[in-house]
Amino acid sequence: MRQTLVAGNWKLNGSLQSVKELISGIKAGAADAGGTQIAVCPPFVYIPLVSELLAGSSVAWGSQDVSDQESGAFTGEISAAMLKDFGCRYAIVGHSERRALYAEDDEFTARKFAAARKSGLIPILCVGETLEEREQGITEQVVERQLDAVIKLEGIAALGEAVIAYEPVWAIGTGKTASPQQAQDVHAFIRAKLAGLDKAVADKVQILYGGSVKGSNAAELFAMQDIDGGLIGGASLNAADFLAICKAGG
Ligand code: PGA
Repeated sequence: MRQTLVAGNWKLNGSLQSVKELISGIKAGAADAGGTQIAVCPPFVYIPLVSELLAGSSVAWGSQDVSDQESGAFTGEISAAMLKDFGCRYAIVGHSERRALYAEDDEFTARKFAAARKSGLIPILCVGETLEEREQGITEQVVERQLDAVIKLEGIAALGEAVIAYEPVWAIGTGKTASPQQAQDVHAFIRAKLAGLDKAVADKVQILYGGSVKGSNAAELFAMQDIDGGLIGGASLNAADFLAICKAGG
């Protein structure tokens, strides 16, 4: 049985005050979320604060991105080891906003995945097609290409120590959620592809769905056989909304 994981991706949102309030709300309700593993991914600068506020609780934390480099003259970058210093468990890599807005390609994303793993972080590898790609009928090819870049660099076993998040780009922040069946179809494709290379990895890896998940649609998504939780954007900024999603996985 794979444990359900619900991770909040706060993106470029928050302030010192709102972070304190949000974390206190999440902490207060986390115990009611059943067996769901909860994680939050704040902006980098709030990670030290979040690590203090969440120390000793069941809620884990991670970053929204990570450098592909370990150290040196890379202005503005944050390394995986630095994140590890502040207790991060996860690092999101290859989010579609990084891919689309900051031109991060499959190979670069794979190097970030490798850097995260090297420092003992669990990468949350985001994959997913644009609306245009879905309409062209190439969803599976796109997702496969994104996975293959990581498998080529790191090997299939590495995915057994990672999390995959399937996030159709057309569903992110749009209010348009993939139907449970649409999501399940791609999740099943991903798992079958991995099973073709290593059955144990395919059975083990948590595959999250992301894209306009809310309290009202989380339960039906998480009930699908190959959906092991969610990566939550907008709805993770409100403790009650986020906890409702976490409960749906418990
Ligand atoms: P959303 O974002 O829940 O606001 O659609 C999901 C994500 O980008 O991870």
